[in-house]
Amino acid sequence: MNERLDEIRESALAAIAAAGDLAVLNDVRVAYLGKKGRLTGVLKSMKHVSPDQRPLVGKMVNEVRAEIESKLEERKSSLAAEALTKQLSEEVIDVTLPARRERIGHIHPNTIALEELEKIFIGMGYEVEEGPEIEYDYYNFEALNIPANHPAKDEQDTFYINKDIVLRTQTSPVQVRMMERGVLPIRMIAPGRVFRADEVDATHSPSFHQVEGLVIDKNITLADLKGTLEEFAREMFGADTRVKFRPHHFPFTEPSAEMDVSCFKCGGKGCRFCKGEGWIEILGCGMVHPHVLEMSNIDPKEYSGFAFGIGLERIALLKYEIDDMRLLYENDNRFLEQF
Ligand code: DAH
Repeated sequence: MNERLDEIRESALAAIAAAGDLAVLNDVRVAYLGKKGRLTGVLKSMKHVSPDQRPLVGKMVNEVRAEIESKLEERKSSLAAEALTKQLSEEVIDVTLPARRERIGHIHPNTIALEELEKIFIGMGYEVEEGPEIEYDYYNFEALNIPANHPAKDEQDTFYINKDIVLRTQTSPVQVRMMERGVLPIRMIAPGRVFRADEVDATHSPSFHQVEGLVIDKNITLADLKGTLEEFAREMFGADTRVKFRPHHFPFTEPSAEMDVSCFKCGGKGCRFCKGEGWIEILGCGMVHPHVLEMSNIDPKEYSGFAFGIGLERIALLKYEIDDMRLLYENDNRFLEQF
């Protein structure tokens, strides 16, 4: 029995010393100490040992077991330490490698133009408001005097979420939302994205931006509209800029007009930039229609106001002399960095 135990001990210790990784070491543990292991086998054969010898044999088995266990533990921690050292040396970071450069973007020409425009109107006491891009048909059309089947709806075909909800075709619905709030007077601009069922080309996009303007107060007249927009044009395009109002029609203003600015490239003589006209159209405007005021619970006998709508891309294209609108949507840094 003694010899058998000695042999088990020797071969177990040799196997432990030879185990090259944790998996092999575990196999060794199972082979000797497991349920069907060799040392366990010895205990099972105790029934063949005479009763007076049993305590002695039991003690010897336990000693061998304790020795094997402690060697297993020792080997296990040294293997783990080896594995860690190996991993650390493989994952070493080379701090001498050159750093990757941070790629910094550039403010979009639309944003530059918008910030300048906002500064001008904030300077005149306007607040900057926002409205939803997904809008009720009521705010986008009905409440702006564009009832179902009105021809203006045809020019502003858009994406319908359902029969009552659309992607807004203009920022004008923000006018209605502001008027409905009932806090007067109002002096606001509302920039934002609008949508139309337009094909992409050099001057059209199914998604573009407008800046709406609205002033409602007592005694607001066409003179206020003209003075305000003329002042805006001078600040935006230069002190020498002249403006011209041409009669037009918008369902929610009466009278309505489009405003042109003198070409800031040729000063009005006519050039390639203004297509020989000397003038460039930049916005639509008018006095808020009394019926529009009434629908938003404002008494047209007490209050009046003016409104305007500016195409933001148009301003950016003009100001930065960009000849194709598509460039604005490609987000190519080589293009954006020029402004
Ligand atoms: N919403 C108009 C459009 O998209 C532009 C516009 C014209 C807005 C006149 C106005 C306005 O506020 O008074 O064509």
